[in-house]
Amino acid sequence: MKPLFYLNKYLLKYKWRLVLGTIFIIFSNLFGAYMPSIVNTATDNIIEYTNSSVHKDGEQSIMMLALYLAGTYVFLSFMKGVFLFFTRQTIIIMSRLIEYDLKNEIYNKYQALDMSFYKSNKTGDIMNRISEDVSKVRMYLGPAIMYSINLVVLFVLVISFMLRINVELTLYALMPLPIMSFLVYKVSRIINMKSEKVQISQSNLSSFVQEKISGIRVLKAYNRSNHFIEEFKEETLNYQIANLSLAKTNALFMPVIIFLIGLSTTITIYVGGEKAIDGKIDIGDILQFVIYVNMLTWPFASVGWVTSMVQRAAASQKRLNEFLELESEIKNAKNPIKDIKGSIEFKNVSFRYPESNILALNQVSFSIEEGTVVGITGKTGCGKSTIANLMCRLYDVTEGEILINNKNIKAYDISALRTAFGYVPQEVFLFSDTVANNISFGLKDGEVNEAKIIQAAKDAQVYENIINFEEGFETKIGEKGVTLSGGQKQRLSIARAIIKSPDYMIFDDCLSAVDTHTEENILKNLDRIMKNKTAVLIGHRISTLKNADRILLFDKGKLIEQGSHESLLANKKEYFELYERQHVKK
Ligand SMILES: Nc1ncnc2c1ncn2[C@@H]1O[C@H](COP(=O)(O)OP(=O)(O)OP(=O)(O)O)[C@@H](O)[C@H]1O
Ligand SMILES: [Mg+2]
Repeated sequence: MKPLFYLNKYLLKYKWRLVLGTIFIIFSNLFGAYMPSIVNTATDNIIEYTNSSVHKDGEQSIMMLALYLAGTYVFLSFMKGVFLFFTRQTIIIMSRLIEYDLKNEIYNKYQALDMSFYKSNKTGDIMNRISEDVSKVRMYLGPAIMYSINLVVLFVLVISFMLRINVELTLYALMPLPIMSFLVYKVSRIINMKSEKVQISQSNLSSFVQEKISGIRVLKAYNRSNHFIEEFKEETLNYQIANLSLAKTNALFMPVIIFLIGLSTTITIYVGGEKAIDGKIDIGDILQFVIYVNMLTWPFASVGWVTSMVQRAAASQKRLNEFLELESEIKNAKNPIKDIKGSIEFKNVSFRYPESNILALNQVSFSIEEGTVVGITGKTGCGKSTIANLMCRLYDVTEGEILINNKNIKAYDISALRTAFGYVPQEVFLFSDTVANNISFGLKDGEVNEAKIIQAAKDAQVYENIINFEEGFETKIGEKGVTLSGGQKQRLSIARAIIKSPDYMIFDDCLSAVDTHTEENILKNLDRIMKNKTAVLIGHRISTLKNADRILLFDKGKLIEQGSHESLLANKKEYFELYERQHVKK
């Protein structure tokens, strides 16, 4: 139960719905509990009437009474229904509102957590928390709370009605009910366990299909379809087995309940019958009892059901709490500096990826003066993208420090920092949205205008491509949309970064998929855009970097050479060799 206490703040927030819901439950049950006594009165009167010697004139009054009782019964059941409706309208709606709040809380947490969290958790797990776990918690907040209150209220009301009629009969009639609660609890647990298995095999099945569909091109090219058809059969078979076993247990559920109701009813009639023969109670009372026993059945059955529901919710909430308590390693300092300007300096920076322990940067020192362009090159895996990650503070350094305007990067406001940086990551990611929205992604709502989007597209040399699409800038890309070529994607990603016109720019290998002619055009535009801005240009081709004010050459996480293109060539060391190799190839 303890993990669920976390939700108390939400219950408090919606306390009036809960209080009202409880009042509605009380009223609904109050009307419900009176109904059997009407049946009792009616029965007794009919028996009395039929037993008495025939009074023709009595027929009129007994008909009137019957009409009155029937009317009352209908009225009571109508009122019961009305309050039942309001109960669901308050408590179930409360659970939906909390579900909404909780999902938002979790999503905000996702946004606040740093990259390490995403690297060390599977996407499927992250998704499950916000969907599966939250929906299990909702079952506690809605149905579980509602049925629990209902049970207590109904129990108190009905039992007090029953006790008033006959104490001994009450005890006999109730005897089988706790057994039922227990059995239902056991059966629900088995059902839950089996449903979980079904869920697991279902998610296996869908991940299987999803992966094979996204890799369909490779799959077809390598002619592996038949192989995977067999594998799919196996996966569906697992799913089928899990489902059949669940169905078997489910089939057991109702018979158990029906048997125990039958038992209760039989005991009531038997014991009640004996008492009626002794004249302690009358036939109407037995009838009233039988109805009460049936009324209590579902609430008692729900004890077992609710218990297992609460257990599952607690397990889910425990998982949620574990993660809601996580703190991002990367946090704002107190009174963070919001104004970001000046040079960037790496001072003896070493960096180890927390997930893999790989030392990606080793004692690196360099500086980028304000308003200059620095090119970074080096073999694959030498740490270039890591530098970009550190500059945007996606990670914090392991050793050494990064200074902006001679102050530690940690002193700056993170969101101001990220606004100041235009970052084109190496792995292009575009959202399933229109071209225009993808380009204007980094802008605040008020800042978006068509002219800016068109200018950015032109600067990134992707404008011609876009206007050739049928719907131009309104073309949808991504799933269900137009598929872009690698180079088109890269250029859209560049447009997205430069539209912000940020003071700092990082281009991580973003010209690798464009031809040299286009590259030259883009570089020419970037020259203009980067004027007076501080920029980092990462690339493998020297042609990309040669105009940079300074070029850094990395090898295995170490900075091995730096200087202008000309001075590095004159050095005749690694950079020169790299240049020669690339030149010979052309
Ligand atoms: N998220 C990560 N988690 C763990 N290790 C990583 C991560 N990203 C990179 N690495 C490791 O850090 C090292 C440096 O990687 P980095 O991406 O900085 O290289 P790079 O110079 O950008 O290479 P490329 O030219 O191929 O883009 C590599 O050994 C890589 O395996
Ligand atoms: Mg890289």
